[in-house]
Amino acid sequence: MIGKMRLPMSKVSKKLHRLKSNKIFRDLCSETDFTKANFVQPLFVNEASGNKEEIIGLKDNFVMSLEDTLRQINDDISNGVSNFLLFISSKNKSLDSFNLSFHEKVISSIKDEFKDNINLWTDVCLCSLTDHGHCCLFDKDNSINIDKTLDEISKVVLTYAEAGADIIAPSDMMDGRTLKIREVLDGLNFSMIPIISYSTKFSSNFYGPFRNAADSTPLFGDRKQYQLDYRNKSEAIRASIRCAEEGADMLMVKPAMTSIDLIKDIKEKTNLMVGAYQVSGEYAGICLSEDKGLLNMEEALEETWHVMRRAEAQFIITYGARLAKKIGF
Ligand code: PBG
Repeated sequence: MIGKMRLPMSKVSKKLHRLKSNKIFRDLCSETDFTKANFVQPLFVNEASGNKEEIIGLKDNFVMSLEDTLRQINDDISNGVSNFLLFISSKNKSLDSFNLSFHEKVISSIKDEFKDNINLWTDVCLCSLTDHGHCCLFDKDNSINIDKTLDEISKVVLTYAEAGADIIAPSDMMDGRTLKIREVLDGLNFSMIPIISYSTKFSSNFYGPFRNAADSTPLFGDRKQYQLDYRNKSEAIRASIRCAEEGADMLMVKPAMTSIDLIKDIKEKTNLMVGAYQVSGEYAGICLSEDKGLLNMEEALEETWHVMRRAEAQFIITYGARLAKKIGF
């Protein structure tokens, strides 16, 4: 009858405090640890960008020109970052015929400059290309035209691969895209480029700051027709299993905190590594709270990162990756 047990304090022998009395004990007992090698830093490059602008809510993150991006990567490397996730926006938006010349230039310039010192992850999605800001193409009745969408995604993948992308990271949540992308890559001698799929991606309020930065807010409706419903666990796991079956090399959940309960299940069911994306709204919540004097940002980041690791995330995509060294990783 544990609930009825009332030991006097002097008799309590199982003291959790005992192994917490100094930092050396606490570090000795730490069950989760990770290094800078596990972090991925997002970058926003915009063809229309003049001066480097800080993104609202995302401290130390900017929308940048290509030149500023190259300088930023250089700084980030000196802070121990070696994985970058690239989001590119060009001036021209279209309904269905996309001009990818800026994208090509950004990726090839970054790889020319930094070569194998970095791994360049490229987010693949149509939402920053379409004039309506959705991740897909529609038929006249506004239903998703999956074949046309996958064809356009394939063209983006091909451009990125030829320009030198190290990793293809599809974030669109279209049915069948991982299989299609694997076929495209293998068919063109890019069989060594891994696909790290955003495999469990919820339709979320926490993408708000990102959409300002990537210029990808949908002009109408929302993304509930193709992103996952946060009320559902089995569907969320199934989405990752599907990506694994279609040939993804690693998987990812996002937002991190609203999918923390899924990481271990997905890992066990697919035997693939699973990363977590601490999305813009999660990071902004921490930054803005610090601005109001409500918490310490670096400590709060460290806390969330350890929780992701405790949940067995293999890698963490975070807007704070460039702060990891300063924080002590
Ligand atoms: C593109 C994409 C989004 C994010 C990553 N890739 C936005 C969305 O799906 O609406 C969100 C990342 C973030 O909020 O940090 N589809």
